[in-house]
Amino acid sequence: MQHIAQKVKERTGVNTTVRDIENIMSALCCTGDFYELIRLSNEPFVVVVETLEVLIDEKLVELTDRGYLAISQRGREFVKNHNIKPISDHICSNCGGRGIQLGDFKSLLLKFKEITCGRPVPVAEYDQGYVTEETAVARIALMADRGDLDGKDIIILGDDDLVSIAAALSGLPARVTVLEVDERIVRFIDDVALKYNLPIETRIYDLSKKLPDEYVGKFDTFITDPPDTLEALKLFVKRGIASLKGVRCAGYFGVTSAEASFNKWYELQAALLAECHVVITDIIHNFNHYMNWDYLPENFKGRLPFLKQRPSNIWYCSSMYRVETVGIPDTANDDVSDTRQLYVDRESIV
Ligand SMILES: [Fe+2]
Repeated sequence: MQHIAQKVKERTGVNTTVRDIENIMSALCCTGDFYELIRLSNEPFVVVVETLEVLIDEKLVELTDRGYLAISQRGREFVKNHNIKPISDHICSNCGGRGIQLGDFKSLLLKFKEITCGRPVPVAEYDQGYVTEETAVARIALMADRGDLDGKDIIILGDDDLVSIAAALSGLPARVTVLEVDERIVRFIDDVALKYNLPIETRIYDLSKKLPDEYVGKFDTFITDPPDTLEALKLFVKRGIASLKGVRCAGYFGVTSAEASFNKWYELQAALLAECHVVITDIIHNFNHYMNWDYLPENFKGRLPFLKQRPSNIWYCSSMYRVETVGIPDTANDDVSDTRQLYVDRESIV
């Protein structure tokens, strides 16, 4: 398998090991659906694509005429010889692995669904792709359970997920503030807040710009869903931390496997400890489920047949990080001059 990992590493520039190839083969033992394969393998999208190309070249994997993937006879021998097992699935069917129940937030979910239909459609320009309504409300339940919601001042940095509406509907936070770059989303939240008498403050704000002074050091809890480049992850979290009042305040953000290899996770976690003075209290695997969005498959037109299949289920997920401040970091609150590296790196899908 070493030579396969090496080829994939050369083609993608992403550090790829035998374990990554094993994970993809394990997932291939369970599904022939490309998008399901991404979700099950927990491997970066670009790594899975290149690995499949190599596996097809080596006749270990075949394509069916409908664009599905199948392990070949030769591939089955390979799996057996390398002692690769199918992925085990013991995720709790009650909570989907999130570790929380909606409980008294179930009625909030119904209301949230009713209110948010007609929301703005995602656009690629801002790396949008919003989470399911269940995810948005589960975030509120999680924040409530961790003591980060009731009576707290909450800031949401980028809110195409409309978490502000879910938070305000709970009636629990002292204050809900949204900073968002997309005018359509700000207008939508403002309209909802007016119509349903929800206390949400909004402001149009581009996260590459310095956090305005009136938001620095004012909040108990931040939540954000950054693009998965290391630069964006670090920047969004640092903006969030700049907004916090001080020690023992909390932050929430999602990090995927589909666009962030574990080498990137390592860099991020090292930066969180060294530069942000936080502890990582929770990483909840695939807590955030994203609605399938329209613009993704268009980027891959003309590539391999398995990329032409449209996703049949939700496949893009992120793990929920919760961090808590244990010191006051001296993070610079400056404008970012070169924003290109915020949105795209070699692990990006788009
Ligand atoms: Fe559960």
